[in-house]
Amino acid sequence: MSEGTREHWSSSLGFTLAAVGSAVGLGNMWRFSYMTAENGGAAFVILYVLLTAIVGLPVMLVELSIGRGAGESPVKALTYYGGRAWAPLGLLFVVSGFVILGYYGVLAGWTTRYAFEAIVTGFPADAAAHFGALQSGHQAAAWQLGFMALTVLVVSGGVRGGIERASLVLMPLLGLLVIGLALYAATLDGAAAGYRYYFSTEFKAILDPAVMRDAAGQAFFSLSLGMGAMLTYASYLSRSHDLPREAILISASDFAVAFVAGLVVFPLVFALGLQQDVSASTLGALFVTLPKAFATMGFAGRVIGFLFMLALVVGALTSAISLLEVVVSTAIDQFGMERARASWLCGGAISALGLLSAYDIGILGLMDTIGGNLLLVFGGLCLSVFAGWVLGPRILEEAEQGTRMPWMLGGWLFMLRYVVPPLLFVILLYSIQAAWVALAEWAGG
Ligand code: PHE
Repeated sequence: MSEGTREHWSSSLGFTLAAVGSAVGLGNMWRFSYMTAENGGAAFVILYVLLTAIVGLPVMLVELSIGRGAGESPVKALTYYGGRAWAPLGLLFVVSGFVILGYYGVLAGWTTRYAFEAIVTGFPADAAAHFGALQSGHQAAAWQLGFMALTVLVVSGGVRGGIERASLVLMPLLGLLVIGLALYAATLDGAAAGYRYYFSTEFKAILDPAVMRDAAGQAFFSLSLGMGAMLTYASYLSRSHDLPREAILISASDFAVAFVAGLVVFPLVFALGLQQDVSASTLGALFVTLPKAFATMGFAGRVIGFLFMLALVVGALTSAISLLEVVVSTAIDQFGMERARASWLCGGAISALGLLSAYDIGILGLMDTIGGNLLLVFGGLCLSVFAGWVLGPRILEEAEQGTRMPWMLGGWLFMLRYVVPPLLFVILLYSIQAAWVALAEWAGG
């Protein structure tokens, strides 16, 4: 452990905001709404909350404990606790980082472009045609690369000077934007119909394995779990931190933002009679429906649209930073690379992989199914088995240090042994099946 030389967060708030920044992102605003629409409204939301509590929280605490305990990036941290046999899991995290940040940069590029357009040209009336033109090709690639450069700049600034500084400014801004937008949406005429859609459900959807699979994948994606992001951030923590408290704080803030984003999206969509667009939901629906809504709202639409896209960009940036940090910290710890160099090199390689998805939206969807769902669920399964069955009481000891709520850890080991792994295993099978179908569809179409 390099306790002496390794950088640390300068304040407790700095860590919390950076971790919340990692969790809150396109996952909350774009993915959450489209998943909710695709999976029958409130049933999905309920399952998502349940899975966040039953699976997300325990795994989050595993990542925080291992990261802080080892004080190293994923490969070294897992080796420190479990020996060489567990190093490949750390490598898998790096692969997940590549895949997820690869296409995440493209989505964030679209979003950044919309934010600029809101100011410069306004939202075009034919939103679908506009999105069709910008979603893939040179322009998508150019905006992706621009966004990635910004991400690299922050990460190369280091933990305190880059990541923490950015989070301290950006996260409060994002909170204000989302709350302000939800209040505004409440004043719209069709708001009530939007809320009704959001909160109504067919309750049998709760028992649908596909809904369960999507809710679990969404919980992992949204909480940044299963690929070492939380582990890496926790590796810059000192022993005095209260990990259970941080885990609850991060999960609760993440859900709150997703929930409030739903309070923005659904009223907007219903107020403008665009609900058909959403139920015919595809990955791009939100990038078409909302700009369409903004386009019909005249000047107000430009202002509101800009603020909405700005919130998305801010969330995307703080998440992308954490994705890149997993890969960069590994390059630094593993090969002794200098930070700025590692940031540009890793960021460049990830962007190159992401270009595939910038030129083909089918590949983008595929990367999301495999990276955003399958790999994260698999990573979470491995982490829970590792903590529950290999480390056992050792992980408990680590989590106990610094906590004022030791009672929180009462059922934790039991969950990590008997509840989380079987549940994730079943979900993993469904995820593999979904990835397989997606792959076959892509190859066939
Ligand atoms: N949680 C982020 C979001 O919701 C995405 C992310 C996934 C970030 C995995 C880091 C690791 O947008």
